[in-house]
Amino acid sequence: APRIFSGIQPSGGLTLGNYLGALKRFAGYQDTGIETIYCVVDLHAITVWQDPEALRNNTRQIAAAFIASGVDPEKSILFNQSQVSAHAEMAWLFNTVARVGWMYRMTQFKDKAGKNSENSSLGLLAYPSLMAADILTYHATAVPVGEDQKQHLELTRDIAAKFNHDYGTEFFPITEPLIEGTATRVMSLRDGSKKMSKSDPSDASRINLTDDADAIAQKIRKARTDAEPLPATMEGLKDRPEARNLVNIYAALTGEAADDILARFEGQGFGAFKPALADVAVEAMAPITARMNELMADPAEIDRILGKGADRADAIAHPILEQTKEIMGMIRSR
Ligand code: TYM
Repeated sequence: APRIFSGIQPSGGLTLGNYLGALKRFAGYQDTGIETIYCVVDLHAITVWQDPEALRNNTRQIAAAFIASGVDPEKSILFNQSQVSAHAEMAWLFNTVARVGWMYRMTQFKDKAGKNSENSSLGLLAYPSLMAADILTYHATAVPVGEDQKQHLELTRDIAAKFNHDYGTEFFPITEPLIEGTATRVMSLRDGSKKMSKSDPSDASRINLTDDADAIAQKIRKARTDAEPLPATMEGLKDRPEARNLVNIYAALTGEAADDILARFEGQGFGAFKPALADVAVEAMAPITARMNELMADPAEIDRILGKGADRADAIAHPILEQTKEIMGMIRSR
């Protein structure tokens, strides 16, 4: 049966990139009759140092963001990764299938490890193996993510294929990435060649899900652009990455086609476009931020939702883990 799985790391606040590239799309899959499983991946977050109190708070905040963007914990399974031990156990099994060279090739590892990669945690290197475990422990068939996760999903397919080949089985599905829409790669507001990221040292480079209307408007006003007027179609923005990014953000926020937006702004400059974009962004984000704050006022209720979700997740994951061990030749006598 088709099944959707996706995850978000609680390693800090969420950005407009996380929202448009992933979160905003999650609720839509709920009503398609496909089972949807959404996870706050706390075990992934700790591959770089997290203050324990901050991790707890961020985990609840990501859970609140899922719900505020329309994920219904009755319709979907919503939980935090560490409450379902099958993820960590399956990751170990996959550590014996995946090759070290595959891990060193991951661009996210290279970016996060930086120059001194010998000093990064062993978990950071093995990160994609845990991600494959997240997905394959549910036999998930499709994974909605932003463009930056594409390489990790290819590795998930490689792990599934190698396991199936090595053990002469077709036990694991070959998962499809779902990278859709106009905001699969939202770029920094300060540099059109870098993705918008929670780890960028410049707060002006991103819109945070917790920013208020004034902060959103100010960041958009100060966003880097060029001095040219807007063209009639997206074709004319091919070599203008900053401008293209802002139009794509507008399109993703409103669901309008980028060319239709440009048809309205053709010949005008950013002095006209930016205030319109700020209005659209505030209108879309304010209700979500408000709902997140409401939910965060009752942390015990969030924890209860995550616990219930973890019970439901475990009921799917545990039998698949046991079957995997059986295939690999491990004795189960209790
Ligand atoms: P994370 O927590 O970095 O990001 C969560 C989601 O947001 C997307 N995203 C973006 N989309 C468009 N533009 C951007 N600038 C942007 N920045 C982030 C990401 O693509 C992602 O969909 N490894 C994953 C978490 C994970 C996972 C999984 C995902 C762990 N296990 C299993 C799917 C399935 C990550 O670091 O996402």
